[in-house]
Amino acid sequence: MTVPVLTIDGPSGAGKGTVSRAVAKKLGWNYLDSGSIYRSLAIAALKQHVDLENEVGIVDIALAMTLEFDCGDELVVKLNGEDITAQLGLESTGNAAAIIAAFPEVRRVLLQKQKDFKLLPGLVADGRDMGTVVFPDAEYKVFLTASAVERAKRRYKQLIEKGNDANLAQITNEIEERDRRDMERKTAPLAMANDALYIDSSDMTLDAVIEEVVNLIR
Ligand code: DC
Repeated sequence: MTVPVLTIDGPSGAGKGTVSRAVAKKLGWNYLDSGSIYRSLAIAALKQHVDLENEVGIVDIALAMTLEFDCGDELVVKLNGEDITAQLGLESTGNAAAIIAAFPEVRRVLLQKQKDFKLLPGLVADGRDMGTVVFPDAEYKVFLTASAVERAKRRYKQLIEKGNDANLAQITNEIEERDRRDMERKTAPLAMANDALYIDSSDMTLDAVIEEVVNLIR
């Protein structure tokens, strides 16, 4: 039986995670947060004091690491048996992930780990290259974006609400830098698949985005 796949790609901070989780829940499908795989690898490299620019060293870690995902209401991730959930969402982790994600061999090694999530009754896969590289044959594809300024404002609000210090100008710069890294890398850059539905969420509510995505499938 073929497993239906919905891919949701887009730049960092566009709301892919929230939308993907909500849609997966509504449909009762499995959920792949592919960014968390790159983030976990970055955490492993930092723990082992391997230089993020050392491609061979990063590939060795990727080959050796074991990851366990518990996709309940909150995603819990274990790296080599250790719960790394708390470090997963840090800005520094995302920035480190964007550096190691540029290596073609790293992407190749992580490919199968992502494909393994394709299980019945269906999969919602969130990332940068889900519709272009990992699941090019997916039946449903979305490219979800928002302006850099809007994405920075949302991130700023999230951080402040969690009681963290945050600086809007710095976050905007980091988002623009991450966009540049994701779009300019040679292997599997962030790009919209030809057959994807384009959604700019800058002026949309979360519920409106979720509804538009669910309507694509129903
Ligand atoms: O979606 P995220 O912010 O968790 O992703 C963190 C970084 O991981 C992102 O800046 C680039 C990399 N990434 C990737 O290269 N390909 C993916 N499919 C998902 C994430």
